[in-house]
Amino acid sequence: MNAAHTHIQQLGEESSVWFTLTPLLKGPSNPLTILMQMADRYGGVIPVTMANQRVVLLTAPEHFKRVLVTKADDYIKYFDGLKPIFGKSMITHDGALWQKIRMPQQPAFHPDMFAEYIPYFLSAIRTKMDMWAKLAQSGETVEMVEQTWTLAADMICKALFDRDMPFNPHFVFKCVKTYTDVMNHKSIRLKKVAGEEFEMSEQDAAKAMDVWAGVPPEVFAADPRELRERTLLKMIEDAVADPTIPEFDQQQAVDELKQYLWAGTETTALTLAWALYETAKNPEAAERIRKEGEAVYGDREPTAADYSALAYTRAVIQETMRLYPPIWMLLRQAAKDDVIDGKEIRAGDKVALFAYGAHHNAKYWTDPEAFMPERWIGDAAKKRIPYTYLPFGGGKRSCIGGAMSQVENTLALSILLRRFRPEYVGTEPPGINATVTLTPKGGLNFRIRDLS
Ligand code: HEM
Repeated sequence: MNAAHTHIQQLGEESSVWFTLTPLLKGPSNPLTILMQMADRYGGVIPVTMANQRVVLLTAPEHFKRVLVTKADDYIKYFDGLKPIFGKSMITHDGALWQKIRMPQQPAFHPDMFAEYIPYFLSAIRTKMDMWAKLAQSGETVEMVEQTWTLAADMICKALFDRDMPFNPHFVFKCVKTYTDVMNHKSIRLKKVAGEEFEMSEQDAAKAMDVWAGVPPEVFAADPRELRERTLLKMIEDAVADPTIPEFDQQQAVDELKQYLWAGTETTALTLAWALYETAKNPEAAERIRKEGEAVYGDREPTAADYSALAYTRAVIQETMRLYPPIWMLLRQAAKDDVIDGKEIRAGDKVALFAYGAHHNAKYWTDPEAFMPERWIGDAAKKRIPYTYLPFGGGKRSCIGGAMSQVENTLALSILLRRFRPEYVGTEPPGINATVTLTPKGGLNFRIRDLS
């Protein structure tokens, strides 16, 4: 069987939760309002049976805690047709094997490392600024997620891999999206679905995955920038060479890179793009960010200590992830029978934790649809109810790179806004596409204005 055929077999499985939920989520400009209405009407535990597939939608914070923390071992990772994107990387595993794979990589994400990474984040931001200076001159319209995705990938390559990005991110990430779009909406393969402006085939998706498979070898083969000793890539290579972890083979290393280049870039990029949208709509917030940057690091390059002092800018990033959590739903599969709130969960059920719903619930947030970074500062922030805010998931499987992504995005937002005024020129309000990630329907179009 050739590679393309293997990929096709894994596309749009009938049993996919995404396929099951898609008919529910078609239509309105923000389909997640439908799930919010269901949560309002039917409560914290909502079993849905569609196409012979039982999916239990959880909407209450105490149930999130049960699945992610208290009974974490009974609710295992579930990956649908995403395996071709993530391979056998740690994000897909459970139990002892997951731990064995995560352990050697964990030190790369310790907060003590951030100071080392910041010069590389800044270098990637400078490259983006050079590009934006040209865009400001030409006045052309750009799609912001594409812009921020390039930046996020450049930051990861430079800081964590000690490499200049050896691939064309626009091309590669378009391929990944092609795959997930086909996988999420099986019906796209058969006919054009209302609201979707593309039609793709299984062959397109299979080709896209072949491009994706070629990326990690390019990263390994590229020349190191500085031969740094402490990088994530080195830790991965050391794990491959370590005879005490035979499971960590060369294929594992390849798949770990795929994982970082997708899970660590699209999410970060979406957050920054939505933050630029919100600050374009709220010029007083953009002005406060500029003033904060001026006061904290002025004309020199920001350091790790400066990052800690950029409280308002960081609050903008946190508020953006509340309104637009890139991972709007966490998925698990029940390994055992359980009862939650009097409702039966059967082994094999897919369990969907509706994070977006908690982020937008008036029970937990004053004026939940309003963009209010202030809610993350001072006493207001301390009153938060646990598990009502989970952009990075929760429990032992929470995001390994969450804290680092906040450093990347806080610095990028501060520096970019001090030099530019990105003007939003897209549809208002932007539509929401809820697939594996929460993305703006048709993108976020901007024109870049230079402030200098
Ligand atoms: C705004 C940025 C980010 C968001 C919103 C985000 C979100 C998440 C979420 C929700 C999970 C848990 C999924 C689940 O429980 O099913 C996760 C896991 C993960 N994330 Fe992130 N992430 C971000 C940035 C990053 C970065 C920068 C990296 C690395 C460079 C990264 C690497 C990972 C990995 C490897 C896992 C799997 C951890 C494990 O299973 O042990 N993420 N992320």
